[in-house]
Amino acid sequence: MSATANLPLDELRFWETSVGKKAVMAVTGVLLFGFVIAHLLGNLQIFESPEKINHYAETLRSVPVLLWGARITLLISVCLHIWASFALWRLQRAARPIPYVKKSNTHSTYASRTMMWSGPIVLAFVIYHLLHFTFGVVHPGGPFDKHNVYNNVVYGFQFWPVSLFYIVAMIMLCYHLYHGLWSMFQTLGFSHPVYTPWLQRLAKVAAILIAAGNISIPVAVLAGFIKPV
Ligand code: HEM
Repeated sequence: MSATANLPLDELRFWETSVGKKAVMAVTGVLLFGFVIAHLLGNLQIFESPEKINHYAETLRSVPVLLWGARITLLISVCLHIWASFALWRLQRAARPIPYVKKSNTHSTYASRTMMWSGPIVLAFVIYHLLHFTFGVVHPGGPFDKHNVYNNVVYGFQFWPVSLFYIVAMIMLCYHLYHGLWSMFQTLGFSHPVYTPWLQRLAKVAAILIAAGNISIPVAVLAGFIKPV
């Protein structure tokens, strides 16, 4: 039994309640979502010119306060997001220690199942991605030069197994963002016969556009539209 189980409701601190944990997930999810969009917009500059994306990367590095501020915020957000998801899972298990004999296939059970496997896959992807493009320690397919982001990406994706892994990871990210956005709308209490289906469609379109934008980069490299310089 959890340490908070015997406390009267008014003595529980906000983040110890399931609503508090869902709020932590929603706030950190919004921050991470914002990063994913900003990162995609930055990466799409690869279609403009090598100079453009390399200059963009150098500009980010030239303001260490901003760069490290963003990195620390991201790291804390990822840790809190994972902590809240585990804590919620434990609360749900504690509330129902004996599972239903017949599991109902409602939207929410499907969504939470999807989050349970897409989350760890996206996390594994991010760890590999940092080793691949930030530290350059696992960069098969070509040389790594920390001042030439353009070539790092092109050489990286010319090695098709890596591109395939990225494409699969982006499809997982799409599921994760879709269900994450959708759960966030529910946490915030949006429930309306007309607007709710539209919010659901909005979450789906946003997740698909982000995945398609990311996938377009390895596909363009494999198709030979983007070449090393
Ligand atoms: C095909 C899609 C993507 C490409 C081409 C790409 C490219 C890159 C590159 C080149 C860097 C290193 C930048 C530098 O050192 O200057 C980087 C860093 C990073 N990427 Fe991506 N990325 C992609 C998708 C993603 C996704 C989907 C996520 C998150 C889910 C992500 C998270 C990160 C993080 C956290 C960093 C480290 C940022 C830092 O320096 O602090 N990336 N990415």
